[in-house]
Amino acid sequence: MARSALLNVMVQAALKAGRALARDFGEVQNLQVSMKGPGDYVSQADQKAEEIILRELSRARPTYGVLAEESGESKGSDGQHRWIIDPLDGTTNFLHGIPLFSVSIALERQGEVVAGVIYNPAMDELYTAERGNGAFLNDRRMRVAARRTLPDCVIGTGVPHMGRGHHGQYLIALSHVMGEVAGIRRLGSAALDLAYVAAGRFDGFWEEGLHPWDMAAGIILIREAGGFLSDKTGGSAMFKTNSIVAGNERIHKELMSVLKKPGPDGKNDTQ
Ligand code: IPD
Repeated sequence: MARSALLNVMVQAALKAGRALARDFGEVQNLQVSMKGPGDYVSQADQKAEEIILRELSRARPTYGVLAEESGESKGSDGQHRWIIDPLDGTTNFLHGIPLFSVSIALERQGEVVAGVIYNPAMDELYTAERGNGAFLNDRRMRVAARRTLPDCVIGTGVPHMGRGHHGQYLIALSHVMGEVAGIRRLGSAALDLAYVAAGRFDGFWEEGLHPWDMAAGIILIREAGGFLSDKTGGSAMFKTNSIVAGNERIHKELMSVLKKPGPDGKNDTQ
């Protein structure tokens, strides 16, 4: 598997940040039992991981813009390229000692994601993709799952929680999907959810209320693994609508039509 120089830079940044997170995760597991809990410690780990990534990426490409979860947006003099970074996706899992969290780094060129890296340090799983060159889990080529009907499918999702999202609308969508599929999963890291679709572990995924840094790298992984994606309306404005629906071509279509079903009041916010 040949990687471009740019993808190598992204991989090195993700691995370096991931190694730091793995060390901090060990400490979080110890702090779990203390009364104060690991809250402050985790935000420091998150910030430290972002600093590592920014240092690595800006050393290689100092003129690129950046959109990062912790430090926000900074325009680059280049104007064509932007890194989109989530140093720790799955913060709640990390905080609770659950080993499902990831580093996510994407590269956007003229508004389109062209390369992505997602790394789960606890499992040492590295997902990479570049436009036109396929998607890989460690060194193995990934393809989305080939299942053709929802009753055979395991579908991932993100559940809104306290202070986030439209709980009522979500429950309507969930009740429609759960009645049609073999299983529903909630990992707690949207980046990993999307990587799992690319790897064929999940047959599909949907979530609303996401940020570009949760989705960007996963988008190119799924496309390069032969999958389909859209926002909740079926368009391609994932970053504007903060929503994503993914699967193989057929499952994406089926999932979209289930998600569009009206609720008891005859309404549906995806229309
Ligand atoms: C969160 C995770 C989670 C998703 C939330 C995200 P964070 O990201 O991706 O799976 O359901 O919407 O905010 O806060 O852990 O970086």
